[in-house]
Amino acid sequence: SYLGIDLGTSGLRALLVDADGKPLGAVERHYSARHPHPGWSEQDPSDWIAALEGAVAELRAAHPEFVGLRGIGVAGHMHGATLLDDADRVIRPCILWNDTRAHAEAARLDGVEDVRALSGNIVFPGFTAPKLEWVRAHEPENYARIAKVLLPAAYLNLYLTGEHVCDLSDAAGTSWLDVGARGWSDRLLAEGHMRREQMPRLVEGCEKAGDLRRDLATAWGIAGPVAVAGGAGDNAAAACGMGALSEGQGFVSLGTSGVLLAARDGYHPAPETALHTFCHAVPARWYQMGVMLSATDSLNWLSSITGARPAELTSGLGEALNAPGRVRFLPYLSGERTPHNDAAIRGSFTGLGTDTTRDDMTRAVLEGVAYGLRDSYDALVGTGARIDRLMAIGGGTRSCYWLRLIATVLGVPLDLPQDGEFGAALGAARLGRVAATGEAPETVMTPPAIGARIEPEAALLAAFAEGHAAFRASYPAIRGIQ
Ligand code: XUL
Repeated sequence: SYLGIDLGTSGLRALLVDADGKPLGAVERHYSARHPHPGWSEQDPSDWIAALEGAVAELRAAHPEFVGLRGIGVAGHMHGATLLDDADRVIRPCILWNDTRAHAEAARLDGVEDVRALSGNIVFPGFTAPKLEWVRAHEPENYARIAKVLLPAAYLNLYLTGEHVCDLSDAAGTSWLDVGARGWSDRLLAEGHMRREQMPRLVEGCEKAGDLRRDLATAWGIAGPVAVAGGAGDNAAAACGMGALSEGQGFVSLGTSGVLLAARDGYHPAPETALHTFCHAVPARWYQMGVMLSATDSLNWLSSITGARPAELTSGLGEALNAPGRVRFLPYLSGERTPHNDAAIRGSFTGLGTDTTRDDMTRAVLEGVAYGLRDSYDALVGTGARIDRLMAIGGGTRSCYWLRLIATVLGVPLDLPQDGEFGAALGAARLGRVAATGEAPETVMTPPAIGARIEPEAALLAAFAEGHAAFRASYPAIRGIQ
């Protein structure tokens, strides 16, 4: 059997699959992030270990197949800075991906010549390098003790193997990696005041990082050797779970935030579009994604101020797609990453009339999110990405209206996976399998069974193209008055 671990922001999910990759069972353990100051977000790495141990104990008790474990993969929330001293003790709480305290340090690094060119990305405040610059400035006594910096998934790799090893997909979110060359960049490390010996060893996500520690294997009642894979950042792992490895494959995730991800056969960075360009968890592949910060969050906000549940709001629209209305919504409730990289912008409604109804406003919100995804789509296609169809996942896919709308605004068919496993935990288990068996990633990381396909509505393509053009024009106008 193989174990996939998804170290998430709100909890850890562990999935056990059999030798053929069929799910046997999954368990979850929750923990929280602390926000000691506005914009800060931290976690205690010992909470991750406790969650892992608890999850493993539960899986072992429920599934006799656990004794035959052969491979483990860890997927983690990206960008977090776990600082270790020379005895591998955690120096301070991990500073998470959604912590914005290092915005000034990020802006400085982002402006340094060659930084975008080498890292392939804007230096966002949530990335790792600016966090270390913040620690250098504000916690010099902690900074002086740093022997190693590990991302969250790599910290679990250390726990599992006793070695400092990080996978390239996760390392790509540090701003210390030459993402095209797939190696640490001496130039980027120097700009971030870090030394190469403070970095973990790099491996591909599906490559073996090490063996499970003997004492852990004994405690877990496992007989044979267990390979621990390099692992992956959460989005790369999800792509492995959905079989999105090559050009033409990708997914749209309608969660709190919205993600449009395309797998790439080559390296085509476009930092000026605020796309993320990261190494994939398999060799010689990359992926690119646009991230919008308020997807279902926009609908949840409308729900909170109208008192109607999100499902009530969307069911009011019926099933048949309407042409875009006069009411428009900019979904920038928490600022926006792609394509604007604008933390200060906020949302807006325009075109309201005395006749405007709750349904009109709901439609505008769904349309605004769809147009925001179209911005990411255009940025991806602008780099040469081929997007023939997209898998659609996340809570927002419960609305059939929204799916039809997004398929039509993007002009791309959406495939809905049948119920089952296809997320980061499955992707992580698959990485563990490839690391243990040496199988080709393509044969293991296949797409899930598709339950339904949503086609774009040809009769409405032109109307929504016009709607998107008006949406594009709204941003500079609204920014100008905010
Ligand atoms: C990617 C990103 C998120 C985190 C948390 O840039 O910030 O995907 O990994 O999920």
